[in-house]
Amino acid sequence: TTAPVAEVLAGKHQAGTTIQIQGWVRTKRDSKAGLSFIAVHDGSCFDPIQVVALNTLDNYNDILRLTTGCSVKASGMLKQSEGKGQSLEIEANSIEILGWVENPDSYPMAAKRHSIEYLREHAHLRPRTNIIGAVTRVRNCLSQAVHRFFHEQGYCWISTPILTASDTEGAGEMFRVSTLDMNNIPRDDKGDVDYSQDFFGKETFLTVSGQLNVETYCTAMSKVYTFGPTFRAENSNTSRHLAEFWMIEPEVAFADLATIAQLSEDLLKYIFKAVLAERADDMAFFEQRVNKDVVKRMQAVVDNDFVRMDYTDAIDILIKSGKKFEFPVEWGIDLSSEHERYLAEEHVGAPIIMQNYPKDIKAFYMRLNDDNKTVAAMDVLAPGIGEIIGGSQREERLDVFDARLKEMNLDAQDYAWYRDLRRYGTVPHAGFGLGFERIVAYVTGVANVRDVIPFPRTPGNANY
Ligand code: 4AD
Ligand code: MG
Repeated sequence: TTAPVAEVLAGKHQAGTTIQIQGWVRTKRDSKAGLSFIAVHDGSCFDPIQVVALNTLDNYNDILRLTTGCSVKASGMLKQSEGKGQSLEIEANSIEILGWVENPDSYPMAAKRHSIEYLREHAHLRPRTNIIGAVTRVRNCLSQAVHRFFHEQGYCWISTPILTASDTEGAGEMFRVSTLDMNNIPRDDKGDVDYSQDFFGKETFLTVSGQLNVETYCTAMSKVYTFGPTFRAENSNTSRHLAEFWMIEPEVAFADLATIAQLSEDLLKYIFKAVLAERADDMAFFEQRVNKDVVKRMQAVVDNDFVRMDYTDAIDILIKSGKKFEFPVEWGIDLSSEHERYLAEEHVGAPIIMQNYPKDIKAFYMRLNDDNKTVAAMDVLAPGIGEIIGGSQREERLDVFDARLKEMNLDAQDYAWYRDLRRYGTVPHAGFGLGFERIVAYVTGVANVRDVIPFPRTPGNANY
């Protein structure tokens, strides 16, 4: 039977047994004594396993021609390596070459350091590199931990739609699905305009958030979450924005802002602990090669209480700091990244849960506070990246909700089903959205969210 490299290196098989592995050649070194040392990786862990080939193997001449990227199946005896450390190696009694690399000089992933931008241009081959392999395992570990966390706490996972007519955030950032190409209008057999590929003629968009849908299930199942792709037609070419990103959105009934602030803290601590426990190999690599603080700052998040701060106090702190910001600070502004980073990095030095923002800079569904000026909103701001979570308590009072719609010039008819939740058995409820790529970037220290999602979609770029 074939074993994953991770299982072999973890010592699950005894030295002296015969074992088979399969994977891709990372590097190969030939010794003059008629031996080749081949490092083979299969994606199951950071380290490759060393396969030792003796010149007594039938196909030793072929083995000498192996280069980075070739695929192989190797079997042989598992041995304690005589080389450095305690690691295990396989003394091969057979190496089957499954796939050659044509023209090795032109192989885009040759074994040398490539820039992260170069790797981005080869999205189909970059998972074979150390860094993208490590990102991929950490991303997987985080998503499994998210589901485990909610499952253990009794949440129900709800699949929310990707095609929708509702603009949850009301920010006009929806990609349109239905667009007819006027130069090439499709027609059916009878010559009539064929709208079938334009969602049958109904105006439809890609969702910006599953929140409104998940709220409906929350007011029946009590504790729910959605975890799926969301889309934003904002023309932001920054290291924190994607046109398609994944979001985790819990929604809790009979809950207020304090409940979900605590939930956000518990969730982040839980998933960080999972990565520290399960992906120490990958984290050691990120610490060494990407950002020396990644493990330290994760540990700090796990060990310390998050700081809760009111927006109004934050504005005071920013003004009193005397710092010259690009965007001037006054009560009522939307905090920009420089403000968020000053607060999280210089003032507190830890994640902040910022609460109670002015209503005018927040979405229509947020619950109005008694001061009539602020809403029960929260953002989690992390040092080094800024906003990673945005959420709120929802307005559950129909009269207050309707007044808000009116104030914002929104048509109550467009929100008929959402209003029904307030007409029939309304309850206080709250939730938030965690941008998954921002978390993966924070954990790995990788600076750009484009490098922590397998196939990034950014303005004008949907290759692969
Ligand atoms: O703050 P946002 O827009 O909140 C919502 O969508 C709410 N409906 C969530 C809820 O309460 N259920 O987005 C939530 C998070 C942000 O904090 C950020 O981490 C991430 O989603 N995000 C993005 N990540 C990558 N690229 C983008 N363009 C993003 N826009 C938001
Ligand atoms: Mg936000």
